[in-house]
Parts: sequence; C-alpha cells; structure tokens
Amino acid sequence: MSVYQATASAPVNIACIKYWGKRDTKLILPTNSSLSVTLDQDHLRSTTTSRADPSFEKDRLWLNGKEEEIKEGGRLATCIKEMKRLRREVEEKSPSEPKLSSFAVHIASRNNFPTAAGLASSASGFAALVSSLAALYKLPATPSELSLISRQGSGSACRSLFGGFVAWEMGSAADGSDSYAVEVAPQSHWPDIHALICVVSDDKKGTSSTSGMQRTVETSPLLQHRIKNVVPERMKAISEAILAKDFDTFARITMQDSNQFHAVCLDTDPPIFYMNDVSRSIIALVTEYNRVSVENGGKLKAAYTYDAGPNAVIYAPKENLKEIVSMIIRYFPQAEPFKDPFGLFANESLGSG
Ligand code: PMV
Repeated sequence: MSVYQATASAPVNIACIKYWGKRDTKLILPTNSSLSVTLDQDHLRSTTTSRADPSFEKDRLWLNGKEEEIKEGGRLATCIKEMKRLRREVEEKSPSEPKLSSFAVHIASRNNFPTAAGLASSASGFAALVSSLAALYKLPATPSELSLISRQGSGSACRSLFGGFVAWEMGSAADGSDSYAVEVAPQSHWPDIHALICVVSDDKKGTSSTSGMQRTVETSPLLQHRIKNVVPERMKAISEAILAKDFDTFARITMQDSNQFHAVCLDTDPPIFYMNDVSRSIIALVTEYNRVSVENGGKLKAAYTYDAGPNAVIYAPKENLKEIVSMIIRYFPQAEPFKDPFGLFANESLGSG
C-alpha cells in the first residue's frame, strides 16, 4: 500500500516595511506593499507533515499537538482547497497520477517557538502548510505561485516562501492574481545581517492582526497618508539599500517604518498598543547606541523593529552583535540564559540577570 505523505518546514519572516491593512479581507489583498527578511536559523520555524489517504473521512489539522477546527470557508479551508485545485490540474495532465485531490488530508504542524506572540507564527505556519501540501501533491509551482495561496492563509505568510530579502507586491488585480511575493535578494547576497530576537513577553497578543488591521483601515487617517505618500518611496529606497548592502539606509528606513506602523496603531480608534515599557526602553537603548556611533563619525549600528506584539527584533551586522547582546543583557534582566547560536560568547561566562 502506498503512503502519501510529505513534510516541509518554513521559517519566520520579520517585516522592515510593514503590511498593515487589507483592501480585500477574503482574498487578503493588502493596502500597501511590504518587505521582510526571512530568518534562516532553526529556532523559529514551523514544520508541517501532510498525509492524504482514501480512508480519511475529512480534512483535519493539529497545531502543536492540539486539533484545530477547519472552518468551512475559513483560511485553512481556503488554502487546502486551493492546493487540491492545483493537484487536480496535475492529475488531469497525467492521468496515471494517483487521485490524491479526492482524498482528505491530515495535517500536523509544530512551531518551535511561542505561537501568536508577535513572532509571526502564522507566517511560518501557513508557508509550511502550503509547502508540505505542494510536496505531497508534487506540484510544479514556483515559490511566487505558492505565495498566492499562503497569502490567503495569512498575508505575511506569502513572504516566508522565500529566504533572504523578500517583497510582497501589493498588486492591483481584483482577483489577487498579481499580489505575490518576490525575492529582492537571497540571503547569500548579504549574509552579514543578523536578527536578534528579544522576547519581551511570550503571552498571546491582545488584538489580533486581523481585527487590528480592520479597525485601522476603518478609522485611521494616518494610514491613508502612509499608503499613498510613504510606503511606495520606502519600498524603492530599502530595496536599493539591500542591493547596495547599505546598512545605514536599511536601518534608518526599518526603524522609521516600525515607528510609523505603531503610530498608525495609535491613530486607530480605539487605539491599539502593541509595545510595552520594555519595548520602548529597547528603542531608547538602540537609539542611544546609534547616536554615540554617529556622533563619533560612524554609521548606524543596529535597527529595531516591532510587529503586532511587544517583542523586539534587532537587525545588525554581525560585527556589532556581541556589543548589542552585552548591552541588552546588562540593562534588561534575563529570564532565560542567552541562546548563543554563533558562539559569540564562547568561553565567556554570561551573567543571567
Ligand atoms: O499576516 P498577518 O495577518 O499576521 O499580519 C502581519 C502584520 C505585521 O506582522 C505587523 C507586519 C508584517 O508585514 O508582517
């Protein structure tokens, strides 16, 4: 008996130009383009196994061991349905292929980090789901084509189908056919840039991105200014900075865009607060660190960015990482010892608090 099963994993991506706002909530079409960096370490990934079997009665999904409901017409159901549609195309072209599109699927997904804490778990989750079904169904689809489907699970998930520096072009077609992710540059183009994740809190976030975005679109005048007058210019400038490996410009735009995203949240009625006092203290610390460098004739050394949660992501060239980690550890009590994947502090003892 044949077993039809495939496993795929996808990493988290963290946006430098934030996606916030939908022009079509069903198809998940954004009000602006966005750009992110996909993290390539093993620490923040979703891994998903999909199996198709004629004995399965219905599609089922388990997230971190707990079964989740696949609501009819919901995002999970949409992604699974779209993937089965692509499989049917394969079966029509090659009639000898097993009719997997007619079997139900069982899907098991696991995140190796806290779910829904502003660490983009939905991005890696839907990207891994779509990738595992693409492998199961042996689809000849490109990452951009698959991104059209993962986008309908969670907007930011379309960007996790590529590594490195990735843009999500908002597109203009009403059916969403030109709203997909493209690679700006592979990670190997600029391997020197690293992301330091500072988990300020791993609680589940208060306002989901879906309801937050909707409220912002309905009430924030600042969002309209951002969409029309700010993001298009920033997308162009940050893409050029990435291609030129210009960290100074990359960092400046990344921090400006994080600030404007949170300003737009504050401009929402009623306002949304994702950052807390610790988040703001990390901003102050990075700002001071950069100020001292610039005053001494140097350049920006680090860039903070925050998604829909209090956790900081600090982008920096590798040469500055040790200094930044030492600074964070010194000013913020650590609940857990620093995980040191690069051995920055090999043979040194690090205080835990
Ligand atoms: O894809 P969603 O619905 O989880 O929204 C993500 C929104 C932000 O993380 C705040 C920004 C972004 O572009 O990832």
